[in-house]
Amino acid sequence: MSSLFWIICWDYGFFPITSTTEEAIIEALRKQFIGQKIGISDIGRYLEKIPVIIGGAKQSFSAHLERVDPPTTFTVDTHTIFRVSSEKDFNKPSLVQGDSILEPLPTAELDELVTFQITFNPQKLDFYYMEIYKSLVGIPKEEILLEVISLLTPFEKKEKWSQQYYQTVLPALLTTASKAPVIVFGGDPGTGKTALATSMGVALAQKLGEKVHFKHLGLMMRGMGYQGRASSMIVKLFEQVKKDYIKHKEPIILFFDEAEAIVGSREQTDSSSGAQENLAIVDSIIIGVDSLRKGLQARVVALFATNLTKRIDPALLRRSYYYQFKRPDEKARQMLFESSLQGMKFNKYDIDRLVEATKPKTIDGKEIAFTPSDIVELIISRALNEAIQANQPVSVESLLSFCQKTTPTGALL
Ligand SMILES: Nc1ncnc2c1ncn2[C@@H]1O[C@H](COP(=O)(O)OP(=O)(O)OP(=O)(O)O)[C@@H](O)[C@H]1O
Ligand SMILES: [Mg+2]
Repeated sequence: MSSLFWIICWDYGFFPITSTTEEAIIEALRKQFIGQKIGISDIGRYLEKIPVIIGGAKQSFSAHLERVDPPTTFTVDTHTIFRVSSEKDFNKPSLVQGDSILEPLPTAELDELVTFQITFNPQKLDFYYMEIYKSLVGIPKEEILLEVISLLTPFEKKEKWSQQYYQTVLPALLTTASKAPVIVFGGDPGTGKTALATSMGVALAQKLGEKVHFKHLGLMMRGMGYQGRASSMIVKLFEQVKKDYIKHKEPIILFFDEAEAIVGSREQTDSSSGAQENLAIVDSIIIGVDSLRKGLQARVVALFATNLTKRIDPALLRRSYYYQFKRPDEKARQMLFESSLQGMKFNKYDIDRLVEATKPKTIDGKEIAFTPSDIVELIISRALNEAIQANQPVSVESLLSFCQKTTPTGALL
């Protein structure tokens, strides 16, 4: 059974939605749409001044299409279900999670959850983030980008393709449409997870030719006075993100860094109230990521980064595309030195010496490789600072001596 879910707003005054007003609104909406084809690309459609008689008086309302079910094109007929809710109801109360009704939350509090946000504009690419993105080596950046693009592909495009090649909407398409758009970056500290997550929006905006919104969520509500409310804030946050999406219809990346602290496995929790709260947080994030696809087909990707993949809740991992970030091999180290030492006039022989000097070190009988951040931040940066202090160019000897002095991350753990 197909259904359309509308948010309505009265043009004059406020009338609660009772069974009579609801019937009148639905009748008026149905009149506008009967016989028309409608699909998820219509979500966000806005109709103004729809006339309706309420209690014998002429009234009018505007309506905005919030959800379409199923997420495929269908013709509106007398069996199509119309659901309506007033804007007031929508903004104010009830986000239903299980049986409980969650409290409304002020926007200011939600804003606190977003620690950093930026919009990448394809018309004016951000040089700083572009440089970070370009500087990352030894990561399958293009593959990850394509994966994100596929998760952000509008359903109508898939539907068109399916009609073109199979003359029908393939059932498999509906499965892809309901797949939660989740990506997890796992791997050792200092391998570029945060750097890639934060900078990939710029490459994405360039590839898609549209604006991309990036929101870094600092879910540090534990111990910050939100006790007992964290999970309702998360549900509300996802609702807000969906509303934002309806407004601009541009892709959004939600980034959860240090994800093991946010979506840690529920199996490891005990019965203390803090642990119960963690459990509720994980639940609400899972509900949130699933909800991104229900009806709305919001082009939102939830990205998680962690250096403790084993601690991530399996229910979240099961919904994710997973990428393991690795410590650089010889080829990646060579690229790293070449790109980081650009302009410093080192020749191929110098680079080869540095690549050799940063091969894995044997510590307590274990072979441990350098991470990219060891090389960039502990070797190159220090050699650079040393040269600045000595007021002379960076020498390969200084770089080699820092290679010698530096212990790969993880060796001391
Ligand atoms: N693959 C890489 N290529 C080039 N530079 C890198 C790479 N990975 C890390 N770096 C350098 O190391 C810095 C730190 O990396 P980043 O913070 O992204 O690591 P992380 O994987 O998020 O680590 P953690 O798990 O500790 O959060 C980056 O800003 C960058 O300078
Ligand atoms: Mg990080």
